[in-house]
Amino acid sequence: MTPAVTDTQTLPSMDALVIRGGAPLQGTVRVSGAKNAALPLMAATLLAPGEHVLENCPSLQDTRTMATVLEHLGARVHFEDHVCRVDTGSVRSAEAPYELVKTMRASVYVMGPLLARFGEVRVSLPGGCAWGPRPVDLHIRAMEELGADVTVEHGYIVARAPRGLTGCRFAFDTVSVGATGNLLMAAVLAKGETVIENAALEPDITQLAEYLFQMGARIDGIGTTTLRVEGVDSLAPGRVRIIPDRIEAATFVAAGALVGGPLRVEGVVLEHCEAAVRKIEETGAHVTIEKSALVVERRSRPRAIEVTTAPFPGFATDMQAQVMALLSLADGTSTITDTIYHDRFTHVPELVRLGADIRLENNVAIVRGVEKLSGCPVMATDLRASAALVLAALVAEGETHISRIYHLDRGYERLDEKLAAAGARITRIRE
Ligand code: UD1
Repeated sequence: MTPAVTDTQTLPSMDALVIRGGAPLQGTVRVSGAKNAALPLMAATLLAPGEHVLENCPSLQDTRTMATVLEHLGARVHFEDHVCRVDTGSVRSAEAPYELVKTMRASVYVMGPLLARFGEVRVSLPGGCAWGPRPVDLHIRAMEELGADVTVEHGYIVARAPRGLTGCRFAFDTVSVGATGNLLMAAVLAKGETVIENAALEPDITQLAEYLFQMGARIDGIGTTTLRVEGVDSLAPGRVRIIPDRIEAATFVAAGALVGGPLRVEGVVLEHCEAAVRKIEETGAHVTIEKSALVVERRSRPRAIEVTTAPFPGFATDMQAQVMALLSLADGTSTITDTIYHDRFTHVPELVRLGADIRLENNVAIVRGVEKLSGCPVMATDLRASAALVLAALVAEGETHISRIYHLDRGYERLDEKLAAAGARITRIRE
């Protein structure tokens, strides 16, 4: 079997970062391909046998995990120079086992495509994550509405539709990125029309819909909240260039707002991260917008602001922790409300260890800005929380030691190397 990964260093799971704060970030950082677009696109390859080519695919632990899932199903995956080639002609199995799914929730994306292509699928229930329960009831209901018989047995979701899926009308009561993607991937091969209402508008879903369209799917309303799908009998593989990672881009903008002197962030689609960029500007950071780059400079101490997360095009929950790091140094008291994940605050105690003054009231963080943070040992607890700690460490006085950065490596491609090239004093060590 071709190895899933041939172009990257192996990432030891117990690496740590040592950061000496205070160095300005100058020069250029380049944004990689979007993790959250790559994962559903990789799953979508299961819908059409043959070789799919995904360009600008980020080299991350999560894309490697998805490659392993696809290989487990029988696909051949070759990943080199950010081009991921997936040959799904030899896929026979329709089971995504616990050992793989538990390491990455997004593995559940294989459910829709496998059910649509093979009429049967077994996917492990992903379980919760560091910040609480993350249900998959909407994914299951969507498959049921398409006519599948779904049971949960021994920790696995087992869905069967031996005579194929049939189109349905499905109105989401909660906007769900993953369930919209799963339903869409199943509906493209279902008999008749499926109407998806209150569909997620995240650019990752729009790119998925566009790729399915290119593969031969009949989809109307791409980029809107109502997707109309007319099922087809079969699809053909294609080639797609993955959009830039809007969360990585906005994370760099937040870094620039903290220590940018100035920092140029290249490879940005502003419309994809505009809510976060505007909020960061509101804190007083100076942002110059160029065609596909943003130049960010810290001019003065950040101002306190109010932030509330919302589905796209609102302020992304995936940027909540990083902006909290910025606001921990603001002049005044900020509030940050997470309406998507009420418990997504594992970064708070770690930021407090660095000297931040943050109080939690249910899903609202009240951040009283302090004048300085001071370096100390902290622990990464999840992907975006880790990024928040890196940002805080870039400004903290002295040295910060961030352990368990395998969380960071799941979703940021060489973040430490990119920041170091822009002037950060950051070293990766093996613990
Ligand atoms: C995706 C992103 C993740 C981001 C999240 C919200 C990927 C791979 N991950 O995750 O980075 O933080 O969107 O923008 O793209 N929900 C249910 N039942 C379900 C599914 C979801 O109640 O079956 C709820 C969730 O608990 C949450 C909300 O819906 O409150 C949104 O979650 P969802 O958009 O599904 O998140 P993911 O697709 O898992």
